[in-house]
Amino acid sequence: MSRNYVMIGFMGSGKTTVSRYLSTHYGFTLRDTDSMIELATGKTIGLIFREDGEEAFRDAETALLTRMCQESGGESMEEGSEAPGTIISTGGGIILRKENRDLLRQIGEVIYLRIQPETVLKRLRRDRKRPLLQGSDREKKVRELMALREPMYLEAADRILDVDNSTPDRTARIILGETAAQK
Ligand code: S3P
Repeated sequence: MSRNYVMIGFMGSGKTTVSRYLSTHYGFTLRDTDSMIELATGKTIGLIFREDGEEAFRDAETALLTRMCQESGGESMEEGSEAPGTIISTGGGIILRKENRDLLRQIGEVIYLRIQPETVLKRLRRDRKRPLLQGSDREKKVRELMALREPMYLEAADRILDVDNSTPDRTARIILGETAAQK
């Protein structure tokens, strides 16, 4: 049976790495919403935020999910097919709109890679790419964004995996049910 999985979670939670692992090692087709928006607009995410603003980026996310949902047209669990499905890696803020949270769940099983703020700060301490983390007090920003978003991740999620102490390959195997999650 082929399946679609949708990865959601805060910046630095490992959505991209886990998705790449599943694609490379298990043959899932990989789709990354940030990369698809960059390709479609010909701009980096940073440039979209700077030139067009965050709302324009959010509009692009909603338009992309709407298209993906129409394309998948209920194929997310194709009976009788042995082919692996698609992994959709998303941007950390894709859950901000209620409309997006509903669309994500129509596209596939939504997996929330949950991470603690301390781990985000550690993992992204050298990151200069993410527009939302470029201000001076990064710790405050991470904590604020996370507090705001946590209920939205939970609302969108079909499954929650705590990833602070996991590796991408272990997380991937947990997603596929090959390894049990630690309590
Ligand atoms: C964002 C996360 C980024 C990217 C954009 C906005 C966010 O993706 O979509 O910078 O609002 O959390 P990652 O989660 O892959 O860093």
